[in-house]
Amino acid sequence: MDNIKNYVQENKDRFINELIELLKIPSVSADSAYSQDVINTADAVKASLEKAGCDFVEICETPGYPIVYAEKTIDKNLPTILVYGHYDVQPADPIELWTSPPFEPVIKKTELHPDGAIFARGACDDKGQMYMHVKALEYMVKNNTLPCNVKFMIEGEEEVGSPSLAWFVERNQEKLKNDVILISDTGMISNTQPSITTGLRGLSYVEVEVTGPNRDLHSGLYGGAVANPINILAKMIASLHDENNHITIPGFYDRVEELSREERDEMAKAPFSLDAYKKALDIEDVYGEATYTTNERNSIRPTLDVNGIWGGYTGEGAKTVIASKAFAKISMRLVPDQEWNEITELFTKHFESIAPKGVTVKVKPHHGGQAYVTPIDSIGYRAAASAYEESFGIKPIPVRSGGSIPIVALFEKELKSKTIMMGFGLDSDAIHSPNEHFGIFNYLKGIETIPLFYKYFTEMSK
Ligand code: BES
Ligand code: MN
Ligand code: MN
Repeated sequence: MDNIKNYVQENKDRFINELIELLKIPSVSADSAYSQDVINTADAVKASLEKAGCDFVEICETPGYPIVYAEKTIDKNLPTILVYGHYDVQPADPIELWTSPPFEPVIKKTELHPDGAIFARGACDDKGQMYMHVKALEYMVKNNTLPCNVKFMIEGEEEVGSPSLAWFVERNQEKLKNDVILISDTGMISNTQPSITTGLRGLSYVEVEVTGPNRDLHSGLYGGAVANPINILAKMIASLHDENNHITIPGFYDRVEELSREERDEMAKAPFSLDAYKKALDIEDVYGEATYTTNERNSIRPTLDVNGIWGGYTGEGAKTVIASKAFAKISMRLVPDQEWNEITELFTKHFESIAPKGVTVKVKPHHGGQAYVTPIDSIGYRAAASAYEESFGIKPIPVRSGGSIPIVALFEKELKSKTIMMGFGLDSDAIHSPNEHFGIFNYLKGIETIPLFYKYFTEMSK
């Protein structure tokens, strides 16, 4: 296993160039203008898995974008690792804020990435992290050190809520049978302090529409006399938090798992600088739910945030108008044991109930999913911890993340196996933002660490 380091050093330029080629394809799943590119990316991923030495690779058609499935079986009596990742990416906009075009990858140095980072949409989330697994497999096959069986399931709809993956998993339980699910689609604390993500938040995503008068009105002739949907929407949204930043929806916290003082104290030991956090975001102070720390607010507590709001006149200059309609997109991040469907219903009921008579309200549910927490005494967690410790020379810290990968809870339900999240990105890598990037150090370190997980997981499973 020693020579994985050498293998990475000898092949790093090729590894980087292959990833760059993959990043050039704009596989934006949310925008149908890119549908051919999404499909082409699935083909590229398939080809890379064939080249890496899988003995069976297929494109599985679904009602949406295809899933790339692959296998390398060495012995039916050995454990099987199922690697999940996604080849789709978020939209690139606002495009004008990128310092280089999102689908023309370039390597630039940053403060946290002195060895350089690849700048492109999807560099970290998730093409770069997914491709680490392809290259790690290539190494193990080439050097005859693959210690167990492996399956790959790489989807193209993660960024839009994985509608077809749920469909696929329900229909392919036998094919997807595994002993552990391995995902690199999260982050770690820093390049000198690795961490393993043990929790993901759930999600309920809704869109609301507030309608007032049946047409846009002159704001002088009608202003003050009819409900202005934009004013009303702003007021309704503002009322969803109280003065302590608690969410006011009745029943919202009923199933929230409260962590013990000990668990919170343990969490607080992870290295974190509030000053550096504020500085990185150019904010004078943080903001959030009373009596919780920043790291608690963004991981073990549920939240409600407006993700977009529109209506009325937003063009150049001024137009005096009261719009007929106002809209907002709202996400609620959930924690164990909140039920996302129930939260969507509670939101809908509450939002309808607070609308004044002068308007009507429609709530349209989008997607959602359950929160997930993985135990730290499982073979998978221990194998991952040993792998990080060996490759970084430091023990990793378990950390609950604020992000969501809704399909993970479904994996547990349908496939009855635990998921281990070995992320190598940093929070500052700007995923979903302009100038997303992935450190070269992180990419290569990931390729180096993954085979160690395979080794320890197989050994510890005996
Ligand atoms: N990879 C992210 C989730 C993530 C990032 C988790 C960093 C933990 C740390 C994933 O691609 C993502 O963006 N998920 C979406 C949810 C999805 C339903 C659109 C999210 O969290 O907003
Ligand atoms: Mn992702
Ligand atoms: Mn994402």
